[in-house]
Amino acid sequence: MAGGAIVSGPGGRTHEYAKGRITPFVVLACFVGACTGLVFGYDIGIAGGVVAMPEFQKLFFPRVYEATMAKHESHDPFCKYDDPMISLFVSVLFLAGIPGAFLGSLTNNRYGRRPTMIIGGAFFFVGSVLMAAATHVAMLVVGRISLGVGVGICVQCGPLFLSELAPAHLRGMFNTQFQLFITFGIVFAQVVNYSVQHSPIGWRLSLGLAGVPALMLMAGCFLGPETPNSLVERERNDEARSTLVKIRGTEAVDPELEDIIEAARFARATSKGSWASLFERRYLPQLILTIALPMFNQLDGINSIMFYAPQLFDAMGQGASQALLTHLIIGAVNVVTTLVAVLTVDRLGRKFWLLQASAQMMAAQIAMTAVIATQMTPTGGLSPSATIGLLVVVCVFIAGHAWGWGPMAWLVVSEVQPLHLRASGTAFGTIVNFLMSFVVGQFFLTLMCQCKAYVFLFFAGWLLIMGVFTWLFVPETKGVPIEAIEDELIKKHWFWGKVMASVYRAADEADARNPITSDLMAARKDAAALANVKLEQDDRKGS
Ligand code: BGC
Repeated sequence: MAGGAIVSGPGGRTHEYAKGRITPFVVLACFVGACTGLVFGYDIGIAGGVVAMPEFQKLFFPRVYEATMAKHESHDPFCKYDDPMISLFVSVLFLAGIPGAFLGSLTNNRYGRRPTMIIGGAFFFVGSVLMAAATHVAMLVVGRISLGVGVGICVQCGPLFLSELAPAHLRGMFNTQFQLFITFGIVFAQVVNYSVQHSPIGWRLSLGLAGVPALMLMAGCFLGPETPNSLVERERNDEARSTLVKIRGTEAVDPELEDIIEAARFARATSKGSWASLFERRYLPQLILTIALPMFNQLDGINSIMFYAPQLFDAMGQGASQALLTHLIIGAVNVVTTLVAVLTVDRLGRKFWLLQASAQMMAAQIAMTAVIATQMTPTGGLSPSATIGLLVVVCVFIAGHAWGWGPMAWLVVSEVQPLHLRASGTAFGTIVNFLMSFVVGQFFLTLMCQCKAYVFLFFAGWLLIMGVFTWLFVPETKGVPIEAIEDELIKKHWFWGKVMASVYRAADEADARNPITSDLMAARKDAAALANVKLEQDDRKGS
């Protein structure tokens, strides 16, 4: 079929999906989904700089201000930023994001992806207004919590929205837009912080501008589509078909639609409810991946740099302003290297980048330790050449996250969930990720104060474990339709297939006893047999 691709559908059935074309509509939709990353990134990039602004500290945390001033005199450069209030302000957002992610999974199942993102954007917008206008700490805290809930909802929804809209052969490119927009958000925030640092209301501008990406997200949602998968899940099949036609740019969407409908019927017949099913034994591999990958997305140590690079480089003897500039350079490298992932993920695959990144980031962490341990003076100074050397290895480290553990972790987690677990699975992944972000945000400065130059070896050790885990247990999801990943990759995986064999057998037997699922299984067998005959005929014609 011209322009078509033979791909496997659920249950090993082989379908010809029309590749279609990239329509303006799907580009708009992709932009909307990616704006969830923008919202997230802006917040990651803004907090560290704002808490370092003296005007902000004086108004809300006068004791922190005095302590910070005193600590600037401290003889131990590794400890001068170790302040629980600063850490809490940065990381509390992630705690607030946890109920947000949960809420997002509920609204996702009930109302769909688009309303969920609008709700997330609204929470974020309200939070940014409250914070920018804050006159006392309570207002600031309520604003930060509202912001956190918004981020939780958006991060739970964005990657799955993108994965569902994407044609199978471009799913990696679509989904990694989420990470790309996180990096845009971070740089945007860093530029804002850098530009307003000397203004007495600089912190108000920094916090208030968070409303801009939230408004972009909400406006985009009103114009963009719902995903066909979510429409089918809510039994709106006709709308799903017309959306598929619009986003694929072709009328030949029925094989893809049938697979989605079938996945939804199968889910309805077997599911005990989105959250309860997540913990069923037959979904254990998915659950393990949903815990491990988002956790690893943090345990590579990225946020030690993203949150605290200004403090780190200041501790290495750069002035605060110079350190903010260094942060900006790091942000720019983050954007450019994420683009590499966007452009190559559907050719090179997810595992390639995860393995490559594990090795690269581990080497960079060891090099960072070596530079700091051997070159730093006891009072915290690095020579200009050692500072440049450190900046270079930090950038190598950032690049590893940007084309590896950043985008690929979010991507694979959204891909491995079967349809009925997708909202709760991605919510659970977000919760795990936020908990780890909180831990890193809260304890990194204390860890640095304790471990000094060797703090980065902690993350290097984790990177070794992460590489081995990926090699052994992560399936390569490149090019396989999203509703076929469970049957084609997880059930046939060398390890999961073997250890789960008896569980899968029992589940198949139960499905065979259930009238709906047994019908579906028979239909799948017939379709697979037909497709095989067709493939054989095509082969004969070809030879
Ligand atoms: C992580 C964020 C991190 C960002 C940096 C994302 O993958 O989830 O926590 O700050 O990458 O670009």
